[in-house]
Amino acid sequence: MEKLGLNQLREMYLSFFEGKGHLRLPSYPLIPKDDKSLLLINAGMAPLKPYFTGLQVPPSTRVTTSQKCIRTGDIENVGKTSRHGTFFEMLGNFSFGDYFKEEIIPWAWEFSTEVLKLPKDRLYVTIYLEDDESYEIWTRKTDIDPSRIFRLGKDDNFWELGVGPCGPCSEIHFDKGEGKINSAEEFVKAADEDRVMEFWNLVFTQFDKDEEGNYNRLAKPNIDTGMGLERIASLMQGVDSIFEVDTIKSILDQISKNCGIQYGKDEKSDISMRVITDHIRSVTFMTSDGILPSNEGRGYVLRRLLRRAAKHGKSLGISEPFLYKLTDVVIESSSGNYPELEEKREYIKKVIKLEEERFDETIDSGMQILNEYIEELQNSSAFVLSGERVFKLYDTYGFPLELTQEILEEKGMTVDIEGFDKEMQSQRERARAAREETNYMGAEDTILNKIPLEIETVFEGYETLSTISKVRVIVKDEKFVTSAEEGDKIVIVTDNTPFYAEMGGQVGDKGVIFNSSFKAEILDCKKNVAGKVLHFAKVLSGIIKVDEDATLSVDEERRNNIRRNHTATHLLNETLRKVLGEHVHQSGSYVDDERLRFDFNHFEAATGEELKKIEKIVNDSIMKVLMVKTDVMSIEQAKESGAIALFDDKYKDEVRVVSVGDFSKELCGGTHVRNSGEIGLFKIVSEAGVAAGVRRIEAVTGAKAIAYVEAKNELLKEIASKLKCSEKEIIHKLELQGAELKEREKEITELKSKLAGNAEDDILNSVREIKGVKLFTGVLKDIDGDALRDLADKIRSKGEDCVVLLGSTVEEKVQFVAMASKGAIEKGAHCGKLIKEVASIAGGGGGGRPDMAQAGGKLPEKLEEAVASSSAVMEKLVK
Ligand code: ALA
Repeated sequence: MEKLGLNQLREMYLSFFEGKGHLRLPSYPLIPKDDKSLLLINAGMAPLKPYFTGLQVPPSTRVTTSQKCIRTGDIENVGKTSRHGTFFEMLGNFSFGDYFKEEIIPWAWEFSTEVLKLPKDRLYVTIYLEDDESYEIWTRKTDIDPSRIFRLGKDDNFWELGVGPCGPCSEIHFDKGEGKINSAEEFVKAADEDRVMEFWNLVFTQFDKDEEGNYNRLAKPNIDTGMGLERIASLMQGVDSIFEVDTIKSILDQISKNCGIQYGKDEKSDISMRVITDHIRSVTFMTSDGILPSNEGRGYVLRRLLRRAAKHGKSLGISEPFLYKLTDVVIESSSGNYPELEEKREYIKKVIKLEEERFDETIDSGMQILNEYIEELQNSSAFVLSGERVFKLYDTYGFPLELTQEILEEKGMTVDIEGFDKEMQSQRERARAAREETNYMGAEDTILNKIPLEIETVFEGYETLSTISKVRVIVKDEKFVTSAEEGDKIVIVTDNTPFYAEMGGQVGDKGVIFNSSFKAEILDCKKNVAGKVLHFAKVLSGIIKVDEDATLSVDEERRNNIRRNHTATHLLNETLRKVLGEHVHQSGSYVDDERLRFDFNHFEAATGEELKKIEKIVNDSIMKVLMVKTDVMSIEQAKESGAIALFDDKYKDEVRVVSVGDFSKELCGGTHVRNSGEIGLFKIVSEAGVAAGVRRIEAVTGAKAIAYVEAKNELLKEIASKLKCSEKEIIHKLELQGAELKEREKEITELKSKLAGNAEDDILNSVREIKGVKLFTGVLKDIDGDALRDLADKIRSKGEDCVVLLGSTVEEKVQFVAMASKGAIEKGAHCGKLIKEVASIAGGGGGGRPDMAQAGGKLPEKLEEAVASSSAVMEKLVK
């Protein structure tokens, strides 16, 4: 067999099916669209589900792709085996109601035996138990030896994933062993022993399984096939492990170079190298699709993979961040087919580096927590760390179980594995329950997704704000109806519309629809899964009927405000790149008639100076009255022209490129002003962080910006009037007031110490002798902190063997201070003990050294009694 590279194999597959009339599509992004049931794309067919069920019309009825996929279900096995990985590419060819078994079976045989030239005496085919049709086609249309076809049950040869499109399948397997396999039983045994390897699954998608478990026959049967690219590459390259496939091995080699450990010498470091090799592929691809590390959803999957890889790097003795550099190898080997990798190279590296640095901090706190747990165990003479705690370390701090085990072992301790497994299990169940709550097909199964596909709902709102069109569909209370009347809340679908349906961060339009017999208010406008424009409306008067013409009219002032904000968003996007750096990428945007909100990747807060500069550049562009122009072109042309694209923009055939003079050029389907001058004014209202590495700017334009400036102006006026000065004098006046306040504070302090001085005489007069020790006491008011201590100190300096105890009420509370001279202490006096008993009477506590102590109390009404008690306490203390 010819040794074929992974990239070469991919190309052979795609061009083979192009030759069979298939449209080659680029891989869809890893983030599923309109599919809430999936976190990440996990099969070639996953992004195509709406084409299988007929919710959307495919660009061609024959499609072939090499789809990037991620599956993390088996993450624990990654590294331990030679074939588990979280990232893989799935080659596939799909028929949406076009060809069926008759075609795919001979094609699959042709590709396997003539293109890949796999020896026929090494191949076996399995089919579904009852699928006589497939058997008949395999034997009639190919030259496979019929004794190499085995029938297997539903577990093996029926493909389904929850509910949705599914069907019987036929698999092609490669036999690495010796001697012919003669029965289905022998075959199953050989498969269990990894002697035979399945490399292609042909699914005859002919059912749509519903929630009740019924297999409903689809109107037209489909074909969905899947061939794991890494797997077939390992086969073609005659290697036993996916980690030895050319492109993947280049990553592994780089890791081995980084840590200076040879691969294949020691099982433990081999595992670490394999984990890193696999995970860095997932991490690189996920980041290139715009996923950022976070604590939930996809972001969490990314964080977990990245940290797991970093941890294994540490086990290999790599202490510095290194994963971000490794992405270069991934990019080099895959960017031929995934140009987004090269385009986002710097960005990917920055995101990964930042997360690696963050992880270093986390691991420190994880270690600290583990040390605390260890100490607790030691203190209670226990040796087993609870499963709950091990799981917490694992889940929150990314500590692999093995690491915790290792550290504990050094202290002669162990892990409660059973408890840990239980926690793992319940996490899995939580995840499964969360998945089951959502609909497998993702697209909600509402009537709004059943609008007939032939209705086009053409958007005319780029050119006009008012159109006459036919009402084609009315939906009321989840039902199609033919008419609706005053007060009804309905959804209207028309042939044409000037209403913009919410998309690309721009809100839907509002307005009215009417004719001579009815009037309805349009409250919002959205698209359904198939892209049909839905007008959400309330009938104000009369009766609206299907098939009648009506005028659709958009609220113009509102639309104009939206257009201002949208064009200003483009100016802002470009300006951010100029001021903060080329790495800035839009990560979210929302535009309505009130304001614009723009999220972007940046690693620190923009400074006041930067924000000023951003505002200035945007406003300069507004004042230049730059013409706004929209060109419709192919995605390739758009890229060549240097237009900024979002993460998934490149998956459309034709795109709109919106330019604002020469200043900005962006792919955008939104509505815009004719020239930048219409924006009027741009003001940033806030800048804040919304997630790790993501900042958000909110801004206003036009009348709203003027109102914003006016409101600030009003505030200034009000301040001036309250300060009784002119606006210019505000600062001066505030400075003066500040100085005056300081002066007053000084006076107050002086007065307080004078008061204390008066109190001094009273305290000195209070003297009592207790067994040769003088006790001075005082009950004061509003003297606290330093002043109280100073006073006590002053009194102490007046006697030889003396003790001073002072109490003072300050704002509903009580403070005590006690001081004793050396001589008094020698005779048994102890301020800490004294103050403890005294303060307890006033509802407080405290203590301190023999020579000085302080305490508080909550009962001012008990202050006198408390101070008076001091002589009795002294009687006890002094000998
Ligand atoms: N959808 C089928 C699979 O993932 C081809 O195996």
